[in-house]
Amino acid sequence: MRKKIVAGNWKMNKNLQEGLELAKNLDAVLANEKVNCDVIIGTPFIHLASVCAAVDTQRLGVAAENCADHASGAYTGEVSAEMVKSTGANYVILGHSERRAYYGETPEMLKTKVELALANGLTPIFCIGEVLEERKAGEHFNVVKAQIEGSLFSLSAEDFGKIILAYEPVWAIGTGETATPEQAEEIHAYIRGVLAEKYGQEVADNCSILYGGSCKPSNAKELFANPNVDGGLIGGASLKVEDFMGIVRAW
Ligand code: PGA
Repeated sequence: MRKKIVAGNWKMNKNLQEGLELAKNLDAVLANEKVNCDVIIGTPFIHLASVCAAVDTQRLGVAAENCADHASGAYTGEVSAEMVKSTGANYVILGHSERRAYYGETPEMLKTKVELALANGLTPIFCIGEVLEERKAGEHFNVVKAQIEGSLFSLSAEDFGKIILAYEPVWAIGTGETATPEQAEEIHAYIRGVLAEKYGQEVADNCSILYGGSCKPSNAKELFANPNVDGGLIGGASLKVEDFMGIVRAW
């Protein structure tokens, strides 16, 4: 059966010392508490090596928030999937809507990033989701389908089986507005259907599909109660141990 997962996405928050403290505090809580889901934190690149050395990455998985779309070479300022892996991190968030919108990441670039991540033993947490105008126009189903097809559907079934998906409606990210549990379930079920059509029911049933967008302790339980919502990708509420653990404990 597919994994239940709560993953944090710190974005561009916390300097190294602050981030290290947050990671250590979280790890200490997890050391003393049995939780019912996998727990992952996504941190800025510069934090990865220190965080991985300071926590037990078996109980607190560590993710980069991005990686380069090239394996190595003259790409000043970029960080490769191999470099991420060498820090001890095991996951990488790819295709976040902020990367797509502000840094021009295309489905084609993301396809390459996914392939490089997998080739280096990283598990991609692949983000999809529509903007408000697309939802209002009833286009959200087509949008997420195209995002999945454009970047993931050239993968073999075996490689697709390593992907974690995160559905994040852009209108809900950092806005305080959350998709209703019904809206989340409707599109998660649709996404699983798209996966089943391509890879068969078993692969679809084994894929964890997380919800992201203003998920917090007060609404996590009702979101996670849906059969097709397998956890959350958490931005703002992942920056404090108590908030983040409040979501972890919703399972
Ligand atoms: P949010 O961000 O929880 O702050 O809305 C979610 C995300 O962008 O992953």
